[in-house]
Amino acid sequence: MNTRLIAARTLVRVLDGGQSLTAALEHTLPALENPQDKAFVQAVCYGVCRYYHQLQFILMQLLDTPIKDAEIYALALVGLYQLAFMRVKTHAAVSETVDATRKKSWAKNLINALLRRYLREQEDLEKRANENPVALHSHPKWLISRLENDWGSENAARIFQANNQFPPMVLRVNCLQTSRENYLQQLADLSIEAEAVETCSSAIRLSKPVAVFSLPNFESGMVSVQDTAAQFAAGLLDLKAGQRVLDLCAAPAGKTAHILETQPDLECVAVDIDATRMLRVETNLQRLNLSAQLIVGDATKPESWWDGKLFDRILVDAPCSALGVIRRHPDIKILRRADDLVALPALQAAILNAAWSMLSEGGLLVYATCSILKTENEDQIAQFLTQHSNAQEIPFDKNPAQHGWQILTGDNNCDGFYYARLRKTISAA
Ligand SMILES: C[S@@+](CC[C@H](N)C(=O)[O-])C[C@H]1O[C@@H](n2cnc3c(N)ncnc32)[C@H](O)[C@@H]1O
Repeated sequence: MNTRLIAARTLVRVLDGGQSLTAALEHTLPALENPQDKAFVQAVCYGVCRYYHQLQFILMQLLDTPIKDAEIYALALVGLYQLAFMRVKTHAAVSETVDATRKKSWAKNLINALLRRYLREQEDLEKRANENPVALHSHPKWLISRLENDWGSENAARIFQANNQFPPMVLRVNCLQTSRENYLQQLADLSIEAEAVETCSSAIRLSKPVAVFSLPNFESGMVSVQDTAAQFAAGLLDLKAGQRVLDLCAAPAGKTAHILETQPDLECVAVDIDATRMLRVETNLQRLNLSAQLIVGDATKPESWWDGKLFDRILVDAPCSALGVIRRHPDIKILRRADDLVALPALQAAILNAAWSMLSEGGLLVYATCSILKTENEDQIAQFLTQHSNAQEIPFDKNPAQHGWQILTGDNNCDGFYYARLRKTISAA
């Protein structure tokens, strides 16, 4: 099977079908047996999504009329991506992409002509792309405006650049099973190049991504894959033995697991509204040999599942726009629409309010998102504080001028993330 065709079909699922790239690849990759072919298709699909807005701009310059056939349109993007960004021999890139048009002779001629014209006019086309912000940053216009509005054009340009980088593979060492030093040694023994992340005691950054099953003792739960930014959550909860802890939007349990690895002597309750994602919680905790009480429930309606016993610690890892993890999921730039973001702050506020009602006096709530928008983060917390006189923010010395701690994508090579810590004050008797 022609790998360019498989890549194009995967992209049609995203571009036309609205499927996530992860889901689309899960559907199409099994058709390929050769691991190198799989890796090639994956690299092309991620690359096209990462540079979609730029490639689309270039394609428009090369066409007199738009391509209506979805598969051929995707194939044109696949061809351009190889020529512009991959170290594939030009001849092979053109001929294999042309071959992928199969019996459509009009498409064969079209793809051949446009890829050859791209090669002739590459310099001029790149110059024109650099003059257009959407093409230059390879982000949709609405997102460029939102991020420039929140962070100013210089910071926003840094975010665009970070979003278009390959993200590092970061591991979380299960400190119940081993130390970070010991695990670094195990990696070195297998010649897997890695370094300790200075800012986070559980994190190890690999020089190059590897398949999880080639990681030593992955199966027995010695290590998990989790970005550094997400690894700050457990530490911020200030966990103590014997506490009752609620992880309110828990699936697939990356943070629940880290909570239990940090302090196993807890009564930990993990809730998520999505029953299918909850199945992944079970599998993940099982691999790590950890356990928690799992509840499929709506965080905004605790009356339907909560036993009424207050919690000492609550993590609200809220559903969000996920704009902080674009470098890992570049299809977000294609699939997310400005309208999708409108309802999120209200849902986040409803979850926060419900969580607050379940927190004991003196208890601590950590609010987290993988978003970099103020409406989901510091504005959300500012509003919460005005509405709850018994909430006291525990500030971060990292950026004391605002509420919480905003990690912008690329800061210390982290995903974009947000944290705020809220203590429930003890009322006078
Ligand atoms: C950011 S993800 C959580 C990631 C998870 N904490 C981890 O570290 O692996 C947000 C989760 O919120 C869940 N969610 C969305 N709306 C919810 C609601 N009303 N009640 C409970 N969970 C909800 C989603 O199903 C999703 O699993």
